[in-house]
Amino acid sequence: MERTDRIFPDKYIDLHLHLDGAVTSDIAKRLADMQGIALPADGEALEKLLSVGDDCKDLNEFLDCFELPLKLLQTTEALNECAYLVAEKMREQGVIYAEIRFAPQLHCEKGLTQRNAVDAVIRGLSRSTIKTGLILCCMRGEGIEEKNLETAELAEEYLGKGVNALDLAGAEGLFPTENFAELFAKIRKSGVPFTIHAGEADGAESVRKALEFGASRIGHGVRIKEDPELVSLIAKRGIPLEMCPNSNRLTRAVEDMKDYPFMDYLACGIKVTINTDDPAIESTDIAEEFRYMESRFGLTAEQQRQVLLNSADAAFADDDVKKWLKEQIAPGVNEK
Ligand code: ADE
Ligand code: ZN
Repeated sequence: MERTDRIFPDKYIDLHLHLDGAVTSDIAKRLADMQGIALPADGEALEKLLSVGDDCKDLNEFLDCFELPLKLLQTTEALNECAYLVAEKMREQGVIYAEIRFAPQLHCEKGLTQRNAVDAVIRGLSRSTIKTGLILCCMRGEGIEEKNLETAELAEEYLGKGVNALDLAGAEGLFPTENFAELFAKIRKSGVPFTIHAGEADGAESVRKALEFGASRIGHGVRIKEDPELVSLIAKRGIPLEMCPNSNRLTRAVEDMKDYPFMDYLACGIKVTINTDDPAIESTDIAEEFRYMESRFGLTAEQQRQVLLNSADAAFADDDVKKWLKEQIAPGVNEK
């Protein structure tokens, strides 16, 4: 990754980052050490196990990379430490506010309950020195309705006490959004705000469903361009898109990045944001995502500022936090 010193942005917001997708080789070693687990590889071979290459075929292959990180994240100590280390790494990279997400049901293989997992991550994040929010992911899949309901109930109980929102993650191409109508009817009643991964491995119809369910943000939304009326609707309703450029490139959410619609969405007034998704799996960080958008698509400093203000606005946070974030990104903006 080539690094250049940048004057702006020097402060970032990341609204879409999966804890298990942020396990870099140094974090993996630390987690393995503390648990006496022997890692299957070291050095470059370990890096390879924890990331995908440019030859990644699709989202399904991308999601296979989570096997090792998940193996290392089955105790409260490991979850706590990982949350802390990931947030601190982000601080070093200039992140001032991060919404970190994880699926508690994926961390119950060695006896933890979902509640144990949530408590551990909240404790880990509270040790970090940046402002964070926690999003709990329900998972796409079959036969896991009970687990998803438990996640939703935990989010309701912990809302404002460490949890900020809910999400739906996993293989969108295999388990379509429409299958989750019942789950989101319950979530909507509970009042917990939510985002849904949609329009990434499936088309515009998936995003329409997510909006119909009541999602207040969309994870990715790359493929809304297939439906121009939906593009207008999302712009008009001010629905933020959590776009993740290098993730979208590697999972082939668009076949050719020359057709990546980010700049078009920005131009038509959609609240687009730039995020990392799974920084370890994509070998990226938030500054690299901004650099990529600048060098590949000509995203100007002013547009980068706008994107960060969009993130401040879209955060699942209270008005004081949003106001503080905006002041950090564009001093004086709150007085205008
Ligand atoms: N979990 C981690 N990364 C994801 C992605 N890009 N889409 C869906 N689920 C995910
Ligand atoms: Zn994601």
